[in-house]
Amino acid sequence: MPDTPRVFLSAEQIQRRIQEIGAQIAADYPQGNIYLIGILKGACIFLSDLCRAIPLNTRIEFIGTSSYGRGKTSSGEVKLTKDLDVSIEGQDVILVEDIVDSGVTLTYLMQVLRQRKPRSIRIATLLDKPERRLRPVEVDYVGFRIPDEFVVGYGLDYAEDYRNLKDVCVITADPPAA
Ligand code: IMP
Ligand code: MG
Repeated sequence: MPDTPRVFLSAEQIQRRIQEIGAQIAADYPQGNIYLIGILKGACIFLSDLCRAIPLNTRIEFIGTSSYGRGKTSSGEVKLTKDLDVSIEGQDVILVEDIVDSGVTLTYLMQVLRQRKPRSIRIATLLDKPERRLRPVEVDYVGFRIPDEFVVGYGLDYAEDYRNLKDVCVITADPPAA
């Protein structure tokens, strides 16, 4: 396992920012009835807190992607591992992501979901690493813009570990080769 994680964003900082984003979303969609679509698995914790910070009716759906590979870098190829259970035609949709890195995942998902004819579709992400972008992505709600560091916790993993940390943390050292 890599070194002990160092706190980068505390649970309190994260919660405060999510309350602000929730209020912003409520102001932008006064009619409510938004579909929040969480990208599995990383966004599930952010989605859980975000939906409770929006004082309007929201529905929750999940979509799954995998980017071929389990290390710190994605291979650039995305596949759908779990599709939506419902039609989003005519609905107001917010795609909820844990972190935007290269932008490959969101570029792919936006293309897939736009074909389903939602009334509107926006993106909310807890974290954004703009320095790493390979594909342009317009992100509507950003929790925190962060430098090019590999982070874990609050849903984010390193090879499936650390998702349950309350804070967003940085890990540095790689595990020794098995
Ligand atoms: P993208 O397709 O390169 O934008 O990658 C997005 C996905 O890569 C995210 O949904 C995460 O699952 C993963 N990812 C990117 N950066 C990090 C990181 O710093 N920590 C953990 N996962 C990351
Ligand atoms: Mg993810």
